[in-house]
Amino acid sequence: MTHSSEAGAAVYSPLTLKLYDWWVLGVSNRFAWQCSTNEVLQPFFNRHVGTRHLDVGVGTGFYLSNAQLKPETEVTLLDLNSSSLEAARVRLGRSNTRLLRHDILQPLPTGIATPHDSISLFYLLHCLPGNMQTKEQVFANLKPLLADNGVLFGATILGDDVGHNGFGRKLMAVYNKKGIFGNRNDTAQTLRAALARHFSEVTVEVRGKVALFTARKP
Ligand SMILES: C[S@@+](CC[C@H](N)C(=O)[O-])C[C@H]1O[C@@H](n2cnc3c(N)ncnc32)[C@H](O)[C@@H]1O
Repeated sequence: MTHSSEAGAAVYSPLTLKLYDWWVLGVSNRFAWQCSTNEVLQPFFNRHVGTRHLDVGVGTGFYLSNAQLKPETEVTLLDLNSSSLEAARVRLGRSNTRLLRHDILQPLPTGIATPHDSISLFYLLHCLPGNMQTKEQVFANLKPLLADNGVLFGATILGDDVGHNGFGRKLMAVYNKKGIFGNRNDTAQTLRAALARHFSEVTVEVRGKVALFTARKP
């Protein structure tokens, strides 16, 4: 793990994870990022989650645990932070869940069960350091794990150009200064271009200050 990628994961302790759903998915999504967890993000997750699923950047496991997965669904959780992995594993409560502690900016270890019908990246890219060209490494690392008809999908908070409100600008300033976010320069256009270098079918839609994306056909 690199020093800079550690900062985007280190903040998720057992204590901050207890507050995460309320502060991020409740207060911040509504008032700062203007993208509703229940009306936009959870339905988007539900539409795309498949039978063999890999969740990258798991946090508290909120979306997976609210997704009403089919009994045959197999889930792998991947995160740099062991507290996040543990919180999501417990919340999901499925005995066949696989865990992988890994920095997604680094090449993946061999031996991960493939292919995956779906791979989710919710609120991960804006936590990573660097610009979209650095973050693109995530797509390069993950695309070999995707089934031919599988989908990689996610959501990420955009940078300064999207025009944040006062609350959003305060959060952006504090989080980017501390390295919790690294998204000042992220735009929907650079995200689309980065995805298009790795996948032939790409969609990017902006809701509030958040880009929702899908990518198919690596
Ligand atoms: C903002 S939380 C998102 C949680 C959840 N997906 C959601 O949308 O509510 C970001 C998660 O990504 C993880 N993370 C941050 N940087 C990472 C990296 N380089 N590799 C893997 N996981 C990382 C953090 O530990 C944390 O669990």
